Amino acid sequence: MGLIQAQRGTRDILPGEIAYWQQVEATARAILHQAAFEEIRTPIFEQTDLFERGIGEATDVVGKEMYTFQDKGDRSLTLRPEGTAGVVRAFIEHGLHAQGGVQRLWYMGPMFRYERPGTGRQRQFHQLGVELLGSGNVRADAEVIAIAVDLLQAVGLNDLQLELNSLGTRDDRIQYRSLLVDYLTPYKADLDPDSQDRLTRNPLRILDSKDAKTQAILQEAPLLGHSLSVASQERFAKVQQLLTNLGIGYTLNPKLVRGLDYYSHTAFEFQSKQFGTVGGGGRYDGLIAELGGPETLAIGWAIGLERLIGLLQQLAPSQPTAIDFYIVSRGEAAEAQALKLAQTLRHAGFVTELDLSSSAFGKQFKRADRSGAAACFILGDAEAANQTVQLKWLATGEQQAIAQADLPALADTLHEQIARSRNDRSTTTV
Ligand code: HAM
Repeated sequence: MGLIQAQRGTRDILPGEIAYWQQVEATARAILHQAAFEEIRTPIFEQTDLFERGIGEATDVVGKEMYTFQDKGDRSLTLRPEGTAGVVRAFIEHGLHAQGGVQRLWYMGPMFRYERPGTGRQRQFHQLGVELLGSGNVRADAEVIAIAVDLLQAVGLNDLQLELNSLGTRDDRIQYRSLLVDYLTPYKADLDPDSQDRLTRNPLRILDSKDAKTQAILQEAPLLGHSLSVASQERFAKVQQLLTNLGIGYTLNPKLVRGLDYYSHTAFEFQSKQFGTVGGGGRYDGLIAELGGPETLAIGWAIGLERLIGLLQQLAPSQPTAIDFYIVSRGEAAEAQALKLAQTLRHAGFVTELDLSSSAFGKQFKRADRSGAAACFILGDAEAANQTVQLKWLATGEQQAIAQADLPALADTLHEQIARSRNDRSTTTV
C-alpha cells in the first residue's frame, strides 16, 4: 500500500508556520471585539440548496466548485464554499433579527472549493469574515471597509489596493445585463470559451475575464456605472465620501463584479501583487429575503487567510515558541523529581520543556542549547538526594544551586531574569 498523503489542494499547517496564524487570529479577535462584532460558528456542511439559492446556480462556485455529496440518509449536503450563506441561515433560523437593531457577526474557519490548486489557491482554505446585518445605511458600508483596513494594517499589510465599485440594484443590473449582452453578442465567436458560456448564464462575470482578447473587446463595452439609477449613483458617491473622510484610499474599478450572485450596491476587493484578491465583499440586500427571512439589508467581507499569511511570511520570518526553561535529568529519582519540577515551573507561568530521553547529560545539554531556552535546570543523583536543583543560564554559563522547595517563592525573580537574558541576547545578536 502506498503512503497516504494530504489531498491535492489541502495542506498541513505545521508548527513552524503556526505563529503567523495565531498572530493574525489574535489581532482579528481584538480588532473585531473593539468594533463590537461577536463571533459566530456555523457548521462546515449545510444543505446543498442553501448555497444553490444563496450564491446563485450560474456562479462558478455553485456550478463547478462545490464539494457536494449524499449522506447515508440520502440528503444532499455541501461543504461550505464560503461563510455568508451559513451565517444568513443561522440569522434566520434563530430569529436574530427579532432582537432588533444591527447584528455584527464575525467568523473564521475552513471553506471548500474544488478549484485548480495554485499559488494562494487551495481546495480547503480559511476565511476570516464579518457580516453586518440589519442596516442599509451608507455608514455601514464605510464601517465594515474601515474595519478590514484596520485589520490588514494591524497585521502589517499597508500596501494592499482597495478597489471599489457599485453593482446598483437588481433593476439596475437587469438593465445593464441586456446592454452588455447586446454589445457582446456580435463578438461572441472572439470571446474566450468561458465568456462565451457566460454570455447566456452570467454575462456580468465576463467583465472579470483574464483573457486578453476578451478584455480588448470589453474596452468599448457599456459600463455598469452608466446603468445605475440616480439614487444608486448618489448612494455610491456617499460611500466614497465617507471613505475619503476616514482617510481610506481606494481606486474605482468599474469592472469589479465579484464571483457570487448575491451582491448589490457597494462591492469591494483588496488586491495584492503576489496573490491577486486577498479579500472581498459587499452589500447583499436581497439575500436574507431570498433565503426565506425577513427583508434585511446587510453587508460583509471575507479575507482569505492563506493569502494574507503568504504575504506576511514575505515580510518577516517566523519566531519559534520561546522556551523559558529546559529540564535535564538522569537517574530514576532525579527523573521523577524533574517531572514534578516541570509542573511546578509551568504552574508558575514558565514555558518549560522536559527532556524525556534519559540519555547522557552531554546529549541533553546539546538539546537544551538547540531549544533556545533561556536557562536549564539540571537534576542528577546528588541533587535528587538533597532535593536541590542546578540552574544554568545558557547565554552566560552562570550556574547556581537552589533548593527545590524555594522555587515557587523565586518565581518573580526568575521571570525578571529571563526577560533580562532575552533582552541581552536580542541586543547582542543584531
Ligand atoms: P470571495 O471573494 O469568494 O467572497 O472569497 C473571499 C476570499 O477568500 C478571497 O478574496 C480569497 O482571498 C479567499 N479565497 C477564495 N477562494 C479561495 C481558494 N480557493 N483558495 C484560497 N483562498 C480563497 C466570499 O466568500 C464572500 N462570502 C465574502 C463576503 C462576506 N461577502 C459578503 N460577506
